[in-house]
Amino acid sequence: MTTHPSSRPEWQALQSHARAFQQVHLRELFAADPGRGRRFTAEAAGLYLDYSKHRISEETIALLMALVRSAGLPRRIDAMFAGEKINATEGRAVLHVALRMPRGAIVNVDGQNVISEIYAVLDRMEAFANQVRSGAWLGHTGRPIKNIVNIGIGGSDLGPLMAYEALRHYSQRSLTCRFVSNVDATDFIETVRDLDPAETLCIVASKTFTTLETMRNAHTARAWLVAHLGDEAAVARHFVAVSTNAREVTAFGIDPANMFGFWDWVGGRYSMTSAIGLSTMLALGPEAYHEMLGGFRAMDEHFRTVPFERNMPVIMGMLGLWYTSFFGAETQAVLPYDQYLRRFPAYLQQLTMESNGKRVRFDGTPVDYQTSAIYWGEPGTNGQHSFYQLIHQGTKLVPCDFIGFCHSLNPVENHHDLLMANMFAQAEALAFGKTSEAVADEGVASELIAHRTFPGNRPSTTILAHRLTPAILGALIALYEHSVFTQSIVWDINAFDQWGVELGKVLAGQIVPELTAPSEPVLNHDSSTNNLIRRYRDARK
Ligand code: F6P
Repeated sequence: MTTHPSSRPEWQALQSHARAFQQVHLRELFAADPGRGRRFTAEAAGLYLDYSKHRISEETIALLMALVRSAGLPRRIDAMFAGEKINATEGRAVLHVALRMPRGAIVNVDGQNVISEIYAVLDRMEAFANQVRSGAWLGHTGRPIKNIVNIGIGGSDLGPLMAYEALRHYSQRSLTCRFVSNVDATDFIETVRDLDPAETLCIVASKTFTTLETMRNAHTARAWLVAHLGDEAAVARHFVAVSTNAREVTAFGIDPANMFGFWDWVGGRYSMTSAIGLSTMLALGPEAYHEMLGGFRAMDEHFRTVPFERNMPVIMGMLGLWYTSFFGAETQAVLPYDQYLRRFPAYLQQLTMESNGKRVRFDGTPVDYQTSAIYWGEPGTNGQHSFYQLIHQGTKLVPCDFIGFCHSLNPVENHHDLLMANMFAQAEALAFGKTSEAVADEGVASELIAHRTFPGNRPSTTILAHRLTPAILGALIALYEHSVFTQSIVWDINAFDQWGVELGKVLAGQIVPELTAPSEPVLNHDSSTNNLIRRYRDARK
């Protein structure tokens, strides 16, 4: 058994430090240090990180960095970048970082340099994207493609969907990308309702090519296309696949020449820079796609090389861990002040919670501390008129990440100044609040003073960049990817497996025939599940 994280002296030092820090208010910390707003900042890959509005001191940072070092992060970073099989429970390397490395790099997995394989696929993606974008790729009836429908789920959906939304400004507007993920047929039907199959290209995106939802949707899409175009042969011009499973792709009827491959060392939620990014490349074009990869790469290099005290993913990861493991914070809000990032919180939910939502350590023993926070959020300013009340005056500690840009991609009148003034104001209000004395001084009736007081001391990070570009998006995503990894190392959990999704899949597989059997099946579930199945069957008789 390896050293339990919570029995490390560095962990225990943080525990007593956190106890002492409970009563310290951000008002005092800022009053005591006029340079605080500049001191607790970092900059990398075009992102400026202000973490001064956290309940921390120099000592806190020193203790957090001592903990992450004693947990072995430097060695684990090297191991990840070198292609070692750090995903121990699946016996796999973890090499999403290789997907962003330059053409000349060398990373060997099982004696094979994966970089040349990566670029072989990237080159094919580019050639294909250029054909589709230029109108040279014709559908079965000779019409060029106008619509892309990505059929995938989880990491084969959320990353490309989020990136398309985020970078829509840079997309070729004559092409529309849509995304089908849910096995609920409504998703497919409403997505294709106004699309002409003769002008539609379906990308079936699935690492395994066995995922129930994706395969069901892919078959429905194929039936829709063949029914409208009246010819099975149409599939060849209207379906491409992104997968690691060539055998299943061929069995589905997609020509392997129209398959873009990737590898088992790319986890689903880390796959948006693999061929899973095909829809992103189709929308943006190869040049902007490579700019995005450049942003990822800049943050990867920063993470790999910069001392932890200035290392943005390490700082972010450890601040999250500070509140989760030492202050009992249950959730983390992500609040992008940019409409283009509206799906960023949803994307982060899979990245963070599928990675670090774990209860046992690498050696299988249970943790005795909290692991991943629950991530959630909405774009500003909408959230301000909905759930921010709880963050300001509720009983829960909710650390917040504010994300904003100095320049709007749609500068109209003073919209952007209003947007950003709100972002800065929210972080300020959360940190400093409003004392009962200040409320009383405004002449507020005494019975309302408590209601109108803001306790403050509510921590937040502000991430500010010049403008939302493909490179900045790449850097932002890599920032979160590596902060998740950082936390996992301290918590001693595997961020790269997801066994927790299996049980539900197996049970659903058992229940499907029970719902559809012509004669009453023998049900061996608990009394609640048995009763629900019977009610469903009765209603459908
Ligand atoms: O939900 C489990 C999961 O395996 C995710 O990790 C993954 O992103 C998703 O399913 C989709 O898997 P696939 O790309 O193999 O269809």
